[in-house]
Amino acid sequence: MTDRIAIIGAGPSGLAVLRAFESARRKGAEIPELVCYERQSDYGGLWNYTWRTGIDQYGEPVHGSMYRYLWSNGPKECLEFADYSFEEHFGRPIPSYPPRAVLHDYIKGRIEKSGVTDYIKLNSAVRWVTYDDNTGKFTVAVKDLPTDEVTTSEFDYVFVSCGHYSTPITPEFPGLSKFLGRTLHSHDFRSADEFAGKDVLCIGSSYSAEDIGIQCYKYGAKSVTFSWRTKPMGFKWPETLEEVPLLERVEGKTCFFENGYKKDFDAIVLCTGYANHFPFMEDSLRLKSRNRLYPPNIYKGMFWLNNPKVLYIGMQDQYYTFNMFDAQAWYARDVILGRIKLPSRGEMAEDITKWIADEEAVQDAFEAIDFQTEYVRDLLAPTDYPRLDVDKVAATFKEWEHHKAENILTYRDRSYRSILTGTQAPIHHTPWLQALDDSLETFLNQPQTQAAAE
Ligand SMILES: Cc1cc2nc3c(=O)[nH]c(=O)nc-3n(C[C@H](O)[C@H](O)[C@H](O)COP(=O)(O)OP(=O)(O)OC[C@H]3O[C@@H](n4cnc5c(N)ncnc54)[C@H](O)[C@@H]3O)c2cc1C
Ligand SMILES: NC(=O)c1ccc[n+]([C@@H]2O[C@H](COP(=O)([O-])OP(=O)(O)OC[C@H]3O[C@@H](n4cnc5c(N)ncnc54)[C@H](OP(=O)(O)O)[C@@H]3O)[C@@H](O)[C@H]2O)c1
Repeated sequence: MTDRIAIIGAGPSGLAVLRAFESARRKGAEIPELVCYERQSDYGGLWNYTWRTGIDQYGEPVHGSMYRYLWSNGPKECLEFADYSFEEHFGRPIPSYPPRAVLHDYIKGRIEKSGVTDYIKLNSAVRWVTYDDNTGKFTVAVKDLPTDEVTTSEFDYVFVSCGHYSTPITPEFPGLSKFLGRTLHSHDFRSADEFAGKDVLCIGSSYSAEDIGIQCYKYGAKSVTFSWRTKPMGFKWPETLEEVPLLERVEGKTCFFENGYKKDFDAIVLCTGYANHFPFMEDSLRLKSRNRLYPPNIYKGMFWLNNPKVLYIGMQDQYYTFNMFDAQAWYARDVILGRIKLPSRGEMAEDITKWIADEEAVQDAFEAIDFQTEYVRDLLAPTDYPRLDVDKVAATFKEWEHHKAENILTYRDRSYRSILTGTQAPIHHTPWLQALDDSLETFLNQPQTQAAAE
């Protein structure tokens, strides 16, 4: 009997799993039967933009956290798939910081080319996953959203690749419920235009706060104030942007902060991150973690310690993204195909403890990049994933960090060299701050004659 694998989610992580197995099949391996359930009506995960917020037309929580005008916040050279370059997809080199639609197109291009879309069941929400010790099988209940029917099937393995940036963490602040302005979480932020001419408060000091704040600045907000809990971001902000300590209380439109500062705002955006939320996994199989580089109880950052036939993909805090998901998928595939043997439970637990201790020693972003580089290197070593020079990826990430520190408003105008092809990316035709149209067509409308950046 062929093993059956359920893959939950057809975002970059789930698609990496499909791609890994298909690559083995094309090289002559016998592969298990794959069924990938995707709740949305298209694949691509968060990169699949929706205007919807709250619940969707089927009463499902809206997955999307991406907004209009979102551009990659890291160089595309750091996430390039080692088996599918940007040049191959677009037929020419493109600039280093593409907007969302361009990255979505790239993700879909690889999947369509590799012919794995037939494994994906769209509009299919996984409702409940249980494991039976006697049969050694999982039962997966899935709701077909348009027909409103729930069916169950048995599987030998379950990949949980449903992402972890969709369930908002929403802290309470005294007086917030009576704030005389608009309050929202970054999960529901869709467009910076509505904040033109407004005074905006972003709570948080990580990527969402940084990016939503500068988006609002770009599209004409009157002022943006960032409120931090642990430490400020510390960028050199333009005159109308500032950082203040944590919000203490709200009265009417006025916000009071821990250092005694106060100011009136039109909107408060809680950029306070996302919770791990896997309500469809029975408790004994459910990962519980904050957003971190090495979540607990998953060997190699994937195999559920108490039942390694459950695999979590993409659950790390992410510097590396698409190519890390590939590294995970190729390694996981090789374990399932019997090419890599898992050690004993005790050895797996010890290995997790070691990685977590290393993560806890990480002091800053540069060390975090090194940590994740070692993680990806470790996964890639035993597999046949095409060569990826992770030292060059790490060096590019570090250059990116320096460019952000130099100028948070212009770092996206920089260009980097592809680690795969060696081609230096062209400079985009319009500086990011002036590029108000984020469509694929406008982005790609790059004069062909423009020389590469160096
Ligand atoms: C606002 C924002 C901006 C980002 N920008 C960047 C960036 O610029 N560059 C970068 O590299 N990364 C970025 N990321 C990181 C992002 O996490 C990854 O790029 C990538 O999308 C993660 O892929 P994933 O497949 O793990 O998760 P997701 O992309 O979240 O995909 C998970 C999929 O699982 C499906 N799903 C969930 N639950 C179920 C269920 N019960 N049943 C069936 N299907 C289900 C969802 O519908 C979704 O399609 C950003 C993240 C956020 C939140
Ligand atoms: N392409 C893009 O431009 C873009 C844009 C947005 C997001 N993203 C991606 O989205 C992912 C998630 O980023 P994120 O910034 O949403 O989450 P995150 O990195 O987990 O950061 C969460 C932030 O919320 C703060 N916070 C949490 N609880 C709080 C509370 N009770 N009070 C005050 N502050 C609180 C945290 O502060 P502490 O430090 O004190 O814990 C931290 O600053 C990242 O992978 C990022 O790359 C990308």
